[in-house]
Amino acid sequence: MKKAVENLLETACRVLSGLQDDPKAFELARVRFLGRKGELAQLFKELGKVSEQERREAGRLLNEAKSRLETLFSEALDKRRELDAARRESIDVSVPGRRPPAGRLHPITQTATEICRIFNWLGFETVEGPEIELDYYNFEALNIPKDHPARDMQDTFYISEDVVLRTHTSPIQVRTMEKRKPPVRVIAPGRTYRRDSDVTHTPMFHQVEGLMVGKGISFGDLKGILTTFVHQMFGPSVGLRFRPSFFPFTEPSAEVDIECVMCRGKGCRVCKGTGWLEILGSGMVDPEVYKYVGYDPEEITGFAFGMGIERIAMLKFGIDDLRLFFENDLRFLKQF
Ligand code: PHE
Repeated sequence: MKKAVENLLETACRVLSGLQDDPKAFELARVRFLGRKGELAQLFKELGKVSEQERREAGRLLNEAKSRLETLFSEALDKRRELDAARRESIDVSVPGRRPPAGRLHPITQTATEICRIFNWLGFETVEGPEIELDYYNFEALNIPKDHPARDMQDTFYISEDVVLRTHTSPIQVRTMEKRKPPVRVIAPGRTYRRDSDVTHTPMFHQVEGLMVGKGISFGDLKGILTTFVHQMFGPSVGLRFRPSFFPFTEPSAEVDIECVMCRGKGCRVCKGTGWLEILGSGMVDPEVYKYVGYDPEEITGFAFGMGIERIAMLKFGIDDLRLFFENDLRFLKQF
């Protein structure tokens, strides 16, 4: 019996020291030695077979072994808990870092920036104006008097009789000319508002306004600058055309169409089969507008243009639904 007890203790020590910190293996070892049907319990069973003289001594040995085993296991358990705690507090410098999610610019911002970059390169300075605008700048000084039918085209949000949310970026033309002497070359991006909401219109959208005035500026300059812009923005092989149009603040006026970037002019759903896409309005600044800002129409000429940024972004990135820009779905935004 003495031998058996010694064997048992020795094996138990070996098993315990060989245990990795696997809680399952630990529990298995505990059951193996200390369990109700474990190795120690087996020895206790054999006590009955031991002769009466030796039984007392053998019982003492077994009880000693039992408390020894219990101590061994509880010490091992304590040690494991300590290790666990230490590990939880320590910093593993070899773990790869977690990258903080990087933000990025909204496709509309990217497009506005790109448009401005091209015009900056052509010598236009970027300027801005207020989104809450006086009726005077949004309409009056742009040759759109109060009863002018052109006001109907714009579905204006009125804040009061004289104050509106600007319906286009053209008021910036007037504000700039009021402040500066010619020559003037500016490009002005910003938010604009109209009471319009359907699949192709949102009540808030973005425009970029351009203005170039000075001595001897002609319609040829307008064509040259806008052609250069289109080729920079959409590639040098994209065709464009100037189509006569009307705006109260320009005369003559022209809208610019580019060859459909989706079908390359063959005709598709996006260009409604025409092969052309309208991208901007433009024209020679109407002499009436110069009168409002104190320029001499006999001496000064120039042109202006305006375009919708959403439209340019859709064509540039091949996006077919305007609403995607305003839903702020990260899966969409992350693509740009
Ligand atoms: N402001 C016009 C619009 O919103 C566009 C435009 C700007 C046309 C400048 C001519 C000159 O439709």
